[in-house]
Amino acid sequence: MLTIALSKGRILEQTLPLLEKAGLSISEKELQSRKLVLDTNLDEIKVIIIRASDVPVFVQHGAADLGIAGKDVLLEHGANGVFELIDLGISKCKLMVASKPDQDLNEGTLKVATKYVKSAKAYFHSQGRQVEIIKLSGAMELAPIVGLADCIVDLVDTGNTLKANNLIPIELIQNISSRLIVNSASFNTKHSKINDWLDKIKDNL
Ligand code: ATP
Ligand code: PRP
Repeated sequence: MLTIALSKGRILEQTLPLLEKAGLSISEKELQSRKLVLDTNLDEIKVIIIRASDVPVFVQHGAADLGIAGKDVLLEHGANGVFELIDLGISKCKLMVASKPDQDLNEGTLKVATKYVKSAKAYFHSQGRQVEIIKLSGAMELAPIVGLADCIVDLVDTGNTLKANNLIPIELIQNISSRLIVNSASFNTKHSKINDWLDKIKDNL
């Protein structure tokens, strides 16, 4: 038996067609149900659909053998006990520093609002810049507008959210896409089954 943890929300929309091409499908009835462990067209594969940030946690602890999660989430989690098997090239966006256009980011200690605390700290420290991190769970764009922070570290795709809030992207921290990850113990014990799946997914990317 293999259990695959999928991120709900925007990654799921792009994950399901990709899995389908590799021969794994979940019926609309299962997807619409309130069940947390979903059956697939294959008896030996179950799927769990959970919050994006919980995917590496389930995979790390072996509660799921495989998972699909954004690189942003994997960087925050630290990915201990988890291997990244392949870049799926879906849910692409950029982790960026953004601020008001007239903001001076070079003076003193920068106040940075973000939910990406680890990535933000690592980025600013690598540049020798002093920062005070203010952890938020969402709506980061609000922080510079209301004077909570000098800048934000958040995901940017079209740039529409920044534009709508009169912010501009300043620095690129990291290109983001979703990755297929595996529990390191499962990778040893279920190696051939997992490799079969990896090949099927790779062949259909
Ligand atoms: P949670 O439910 O854990 O709070 P979330 O609300 O951030 O997560 P989503 O907005 O569905 O969940 O985002 C999940 C993933 O999708 C992110 O981790 C990232 O990899 C990717 N993502 C987020 N925003 C964008 C975007 N604007 N464009 C493309 N991909 C994105
Ligand atoms: C993400 C991100 C930005 C927005 C960027 O938010 O946090 O706010 O997308 O996308 P854009 O550049 O195309 O406008 P999301 O829509 O996932 O909402 P959330 O942060 O509330 O989860």
